This record gives sequence, structure tokens and C-alpha cells, in this order.
Amino acid sequence: MARNPEVVTVDPDLGSRAETKRAVQIAHFTVVGEGGYGVEAVTVAKERPSDVFLVSVEEPVALALQTIESLADVAPGIPTIVYSSLADAQSVRRAMVAGARDYLVKPLKPEDLSRAVYGVLEQEEKKRLRADGQGTEASARGTVITVFGAKGGIGKTTISTNLAVTLAKMTGANVCLLDMDTRFGDVAIMMDVAVESSIADVARKIEEIDRDKIRDYLVKHHSGVSILPAPLHPTEWRNMTPQHIERIVELLAQTHDYVVVDTPGTFNELIAATLELANLILLVTSMDIASIKDTALALEMLRAAGVSEDKVKLMINHSTAANSLREEDVSRVLEYDVFWRIPHDLSVSSSTQLGQPIVVAKPYARVSRSIIELAHALTGTRQEKRGFLDRVLGRSA
Ligand SMILES: Nc1ncnc2c1ncn2[C@@H]1O[C@H](COP(=O)(O)OP(=O)(O)OP(=O)(O)O)[C@@H](O)[C@H]1O
Ligand SMILES: [Mg+2]
Repeated sequence: MARNPEVVTVDPDLGSRAETKRAVQIAHFTVVGEGGYGVEAVTVAKERPSDVFLVSVEEPVALALQTIESLADVAPGIPTIVYSSLADAQSVRRAMVAGARDYLVKPLKPEDLSRAVYGVLEQEEKKRLRADGQGTEASARGTVITVFGAKGGIGKTTISTNLAVTLAKMTGANVCLLDMDTRFGDVAIMMDVAVESSIADVARKIEEIDRDKIRDYLVKHHSGVSILPAPLHPTEWRNMTPQHIERIVELLAQTHDYVVVDTPGTFNELIAATLELANLILLVTSMDIASIKDTALALEMLRAAGVSEDKVKLMINHSTAANSLREEDVSRVLEYDVFWRIPHDLSVSSSTQLGQPIVVAKPYARVSRSIIELAHALTGTRQEKRGFLDRVLGRSA
């Protein structure tokens, strides 16, 4: 969903309704209608279509539960989330039986509300796809890993290219690398492949592109990774919309086991779409103060956008040798666990100059080992180290 979700709140207590409205606004949703129980709620729901109903349930609960049932009758595709000061299992069960899809206990926290709203909307979308007969397509979706960072030059492209190559070589999986760097788009250069067509060409033909046709636009790297390059001229991004990106990422995910997405050090609505579609966001930071500050803002922005924290993994990349901060301080300042650390390694830039990912050029280098271990951690594969590195070197065949 490109726009912010719209909600209708149903709460007969005006004070509680105002509090709910505040939480809804902090979570960046829009209240498009409000009312009390019964006929009032049903009338508002009919007058103004919305994405979610937020219904207060307090003692005596009968009218509230009847209202949830009536809303499900008049607007069957719109999920209801209940909020209540009643935290006992019996109250939760009764609300769920009446048709509530999630249950939040007061005081309503914007982050919980955000998680609940996006959660039920995602379930609703899956239900809709199944009903449209696209259920198998939806379940056969590969993993989308978006490599994101709040700043330029911190190693996002280094990580995305090397991770894609490692996943392809290590697991034999179908891996696609999508260059979403809306400024410079240097994946093709780093991988030394010729750009014949780009994501902009796919976007131009979006109406006729399907799972087969999109393959014609991909460039095959010798590692097995399929690359969808960025356009050669950044101006070509201008005609692309979040809907184009959603369709393209979905098609790539339906045809690949992994889609690794490289992003720029800036944020725009196209990047927002890739973050929304990602199963995993690798949030890269380098070890300088400016990067940490920008990473704090990025984390805040992801939280406000309702991106689940389970999905966001913080990575420190020692892209420079300078080390004015300690890793523990980074975790403490950001109030976030560090998921992965990539050491500084001078051989990164020499392999980049050669147009070779370091995991191919120097598989035993410190950075290569770290990225290979990262791929293990992400895929949950456990193999004897020696054999694994041999496979990456292509010696196992
Ligand atoms: N772990 C590392 N050790 C040494 N050098 C590194 C490391 N990671 C990245 N670099 C170097 O840092 C520079 C920037 O890396 P890269 O281009 O991957 O960053 P980026 O975040 O993609 O930048 P941009 O936002 O401009 O696209 C490159 O010269 C790369 O060789
Ligand atoms: Mg880059």
C-alpha cells in the first residue's frame, strides 16, 4: 500500500476516542471517520471506506461485540482491531470470536498499533490473493533482502553484490540482484557486466511484463547471479512509481529464491516501496559519528513506518580504517543490537577496481569470510568450513 492506511475508530467515550486519534496520528495513519457503537458505527463505515476499523471494547461488552459483528457484515473485507482496558483471556477470546483480528490492551502505544494495522492488512492481502487464485504464486515467493543505509559510501553495494554472489554459489539458489540506487547505480560496474536493459525498461513495459518476460531484462553474471541494473541515466528514474517497483520486486521474488536489493544513501518513495516489500532489511552503518546519527534517524523512520523490528538487522561495516567509536557504544547509542560486523579490509577496493566481488577475487580475505558467514547466518546453513570455502572457490565440482 503506497498511501498511509486509513482507519475508522468506534469508541463511545469521547476522551478515549481523542487519545486513540492521537496514537493513530503518531503511527502515521489517518482517521477518516469516527463514531459510537451500533447504527452510528455502521453508518460511518458505509459512508467512508477505510482500511481498518479500530473498535474500543469496555464493560458491558455486549454492544461493542455486536458492533464488531455488524461491521463484519457491512464491510466484510475490512479487518477490525480491538483496543480495550480488559486484558483477561476471556475478553480477548470473546472479541476474537465476534470477528476482531487483533486485540490491543490500553494504553494504546503507536508502535503496537502500527504493527497490528500492518499485520492485519498483510493477512487481508494474502487472503485476497488466495481468493483470486494467486495463492500459490504468493506462497512461492523468494526472500527479498534489502541492503539499506542512511548514508552514501558506507559499503551497501559492496555488501549487496558480495552477498548475492555468495548466496548463489553457496546454496545454488536462483539469486537476483536489483540495483535500486536511484542516484548512481553502480552494481553493473562493480560486477563488470554490460548494461543492455535496465529496470527503467521494465517499468516502461510494466503492463505486459510477466514472470517469463522479466527474465529478458536480466543480465547473467558468471557467478550465476541475475542482475537487473539501474538505468544508465538517473533521470530515467523519474517516470517510475512505487507501484512499478512493487510489481517488479514481486515478479523477481516469484522467479528467484533470493532477491538482493541495493539502495542509495538517500530515501525516496521508490526506496520506501523496496523496504516495505523486504523480508529482511540489512541496515548498514559505518563507524563514524555522522553515520551513527543518520542510522538513528533511519531506525526511527523505519519504526514510524511500521516496519517490524524483527525484519531490521543492524550491520556495522568498517568501510574505513578509522575507529573513533567502539562497537558497544554504537549498540548503546542506537539502542539496537548489532547483528553483524564486517571488518576493514584493503583488498575490498582492489577487487572493486577489477570489477570482481571480493568473495570471488579473494575468498579467504577477512571481508569475504565475514560475508560468507553472514550468508550462513541468513540461510541457516551449517557446513564444515573448509568444504564450504572450497565450494565458494568452485573446487567442489
Ligand atoms: N569492509 C570494507 N573494508 C574496506 N573498504 C570497504 C569496505 N566496505 C566498503 N569499502 C569501500 O568503501 C567504498 C564505498 O563502498 P560502496 O560503494 O559499497 O558504498 P555504498 O554505501 O554503496 O556507497 P553509495 O551510497 O555511494 O552507493 C568503496 O571504495 C569500497 O571499496
Ligand atoms: Mg552503492
